[in-house]
Amino acid sequence: AHHPGFSPAPDSNYADLRQREGVLAALQQVRSQLGKTYQPLINGEYCQTDRTLASENPCNPKEIIGSMGQISVDQAEAAMTAAKAAFPAWKATPAQDRAAIIRKAGDLMEQRREQLVAWVVLEVGKPIAEADAEVTEAIDFCHYYSAEMERLDQALNLDVVGETDRYHYQPRGIALVIAPWNFPIAIPTGMTVAALVSGNCTLLKPAAVSSVIMAKVTEILVEAGIPKGVFQYIPGSGSTVGAHLVKHKDVHMIAFTGSREVGCQIYAEAAVLQPGQKHLKRVVAEMGGKNALIIDESADLDQAVAGVVQSAFGYSGQKCSACSRAIVLEPVYDAFLARLVEATKSLNIGPTDNPGVQMGPVVDGSAQAKIREYIATGKTEAQVALEMEAPEGGYFVGPVIFSEVSPQATIAQEEIFGPVLAVIKAKSFDEALTIANGTDYALTGGIYSRTPSHLDRAKAEFEVGNLYINRGITGAIVNRQPFGGFKLSGVGSKAGGPDYLVQFMEPRVITENI
Ligand code: NAD
Ligand code: ALA
Repeated sequence: AHHPGFSPAPDSNYADLRQREGVLAALQQVRSQLGKTYQPLINGEYCQTDRTLASENPCNPKEIIGSMGQISVDQAEAAMTAAKAAFPAWKATPAQDRAAIIRKAGDLMEQRREQLVAWVVLEVGKPIAEADAEVTEAIDFCHYYSAEMERLDQALNLDVVGETDRYHYQPRGIALVIAPWNFPIAIPTGMTVAALVSGNCTLLKPAAVSSVIMAKVTEILVEAGIPKGVFQYIPGSGSTVGAHLVKHKDVHMIAFTGSREVGCQIYAEAAVLQPGQKHLKRVVAEMGGKNALIIDESADLDQAVAGVVQSAFGYSGQKCSACSRAIVLEPVYDAFLARLVEATKSLNIGPTDNPGVQMGPVVDGSAQAKIREYIATGKTEAQVALEMEAPEGGYFVGPVIFSEVSPQATIAQEEIFGPVLAVIKAKSFDEALTIANGTDYALTGGIYSRTPSHLDRAKAEFEVGNLYINRGITGAIVNRQPFGGFKLSGVGSKAGGPDYLVQFMEPRVITENI
């Protein structure tokens, strides 16, 4: 996937002893900095707040990562006023200069990779290798969107004889970014730097449980030279500050990633014209999934088992891309299920500061309680093929595999966002495709098969934004697998792909008679 101006960052290689020791040393160093208080950044200043919120390590909730100042609605107004004041100069800043700042932010992230990995591991309980891949993605977003902005900055020449016709882009204005916790650095960084590099003044509201890691990225953006008022870090309550800004007359663009419930609400609220508002808001909303892998009778079952385990239980099933349904053709159903259960049993589950751990906890107590409720519902709907013990101490939930699940069961329809997999039997490939497409979502999906006609049909008929063939369905890479879905998985175009930045801009055409 060549792109002029963009080179992807390599992940760390923890098989290399020195790199493994490097990240362990970073974990120790970051641990010595835990418990500090971080402040929001408004108009270039770190500000006092009336309220702070502690962020805890899900592996050990007694370990406080830091406390984050929470802005009030008045401070949200101050941030908006500063963003509006900063916009004319940022809009007039040449795209190359904006790109240089964002590129530098990516370079600083690369220099601090091990520390950033450690913050992700400790703040959201992500296993080290997955945290490392996430930091790579954040770096790639900085470098890729900078290169994309430079590409889009070249006005398209549509001239005819006697007339110049130039098609170019300008920023929309004020962008509001509302981010989830499950990719606590990659997703907020990606949405934010896309908005910034395309010339918008940007307010970032992170998810409450993961706001320290983006306080670190805020420091990086400031160090990279982002001008005052252009980027503002505004942690605060989603339902008050977030909702207030969604309805704000001066917001032009909302980039949201999170749940379907909140995404649909934001989409509706943003559509209402407020008094004094002279534009319609653009909303990009990336939401959930109920992603399936189909395993047919010609599949390589070793590959399929490994792919399903990694896709279902990576980051404890808390990826929008996670596999939560395995749809298995009848002839291989029993063999697949038996091998899947054995492979899952061998997962090493525990605190994620240990490089040997493959699965950690879920993010907090309410996620743990909600997942346990779904497991209880599943027990009334299907057979339990495996329910693993969870370690004590943190918000752990052991992997659960349900078998003989009806395609219409609650656990086969609703996004659980935990380590819970529904295994569904299909009598034919036709039926498998119908089941796969039979939810409200269309985010990721995949198929393990060596039957060319099945692969052709999956390519044509499997309704997902990202289809993976004979591999797992998580871990999209910038500029290789631009990522995003449709149906109730979201609206807007793919992150890390060629259509993403144009959403943050207004196209204009200038015709000159010569
Ligand atoms: P969430 O919807 O609970 O929260 C997301 C953000 O919205 C948070 O910052 C929250 O504070 C804010 N918010 C909550 N209520 C709000 C309101 N009324 N107005 C404005 N903002 C509000 O989601 P989450 O639990 O943080 O993330 C998990 C969800 O995100 C899952 O559904 C997952 O599938 C989805 N997700 C999707 C993608 C994708 O690319 N499609 C990627 C990652 C996560
Ligand atoms: N982009 C993330 C993945 O593909 C969500 O897993």
